[in-house]
Amino acid sequence: MNNLHGKVCIVTGSTSGIGLVTAKELSKMGATTVLVARDEVRGKAALIEVTEYSKNDSVDLMICDFSLQSSIVTFTEAFKSKYERLDILVNNAGMMSNERIETDSGIELTFAVNHLGYFITSNLLLDMLIDTPASRIVNVASDLHLNGKIDPNNLMHKHDYHGFTAYCDSKLANLLFTYKMADILQGSDTTINAVHPGVIKTKFGIVDRNSNRSFPMGRVSPEDGAKAQIYLSVSPKVHDVSGKYFNEMCMERSSAMSYDEELADVLWQKSIDYIAQNKSLIRG
Ligand SMILES: NC(=O)c1ccc[n+]([C@@H]2O[C@H](COP(=O)([O-])OP(=O)(O)OC[C@H]3O[C@@H](n4cnc5c(N)ncnc54)[C@H](OP(=O)(O)O)[C@@H]3O)[C@@H](O)[C@H]2O)c1
Repeated sequence: MNNLHGKVCIVTGSTSGIGLVTAKELSKMGATTVLVARDEVRGKAALIEVTEYSKNDSVDLMICDFSLQSSIVTFTEAFKSKYERLDILVNNAGMMSNERIETDSGIELTFAVNHLGYFITSNLLLDMLIDTPASRIVNVASDLHLNGKIDPNNLMHKHDYHGFTAYCDSKLANLLFTYKMADILQGSDTTINAVHPGVIKTKFGIVDRNSNRSFPMGRVSPEDGAKAQIYLSVSPKVHDVSGKYFNEMCMERSSAMSYDEELADVLWQKSIDYIAQNKSLIRG
């Protein structure tokens, strides 16, 4: 059991699934744990669950809908004005949608939440992460990135939307982002890694909420499924590992496309182009 007393962690998507388990375990290790939820009622329920489980009162709730850039800016600014350090950022909030939906800024929802959510949050908190000794960013990706084929001219999938394809592309984007950010962070004390947590029985990808039929049909419990991201968040074994992909707890090579540096640069620039607010705070 690691001792995280005095450390501050953020876990996004901590109302359910592996995000909730991650928040519970980091809190149990003594961290001040900031839960991030888009829904206040679900957020408050998670706050109670995490506090009761960990017997640690240093649990906070901040509201953010990662599909809305203004909400990410409000959340990160609130965090920076309340806290002086950020030791662990777990970018975990994610979704998949059968229908093509656009956000208020005209961005396809899966790309907005799964990629821009991680991209903007990490960038807006980057100075604080860099100022905090041995800080870590953990991006929850997926082995489904192997099916991803990002076309920089078709990031919005305007005419060929398919929920599964958009999801796989967004998880490939998580890897392209992780590797480029690791380059930017070289020479700093901050690490960034991506993880496929396994195929887990969570609320993820529920297709038919009445029958609870879901995709993927995970068999692993959220408690087991959260182990890899907790490992990357706290284990001394990976304290100096950065810019890597872990399939559960094993470091592996990800898809060939995920290492395409030119594609990573284009995705980075296009991501900045999609940002309406605080553009100047983004590196690269
Ligand atoms: N389950 C798997 O087999 C599996 C496999 C590979 C990767 N993953 C990845 O693991 C991560 C966690 O998923 P999970 O399996 O734990 O699923 P989950 O139980 O559905 O949890 C997803 C979390 O993300 C939050 N979220 C979704 N959209 C959001 C938004 N717009 N703004 C803020 N929060 C939002 C959800 O909040 P609400 O409660 O408000 O919906 C929930 O807390 C995701 O990134 C997913 O891609 C999962």
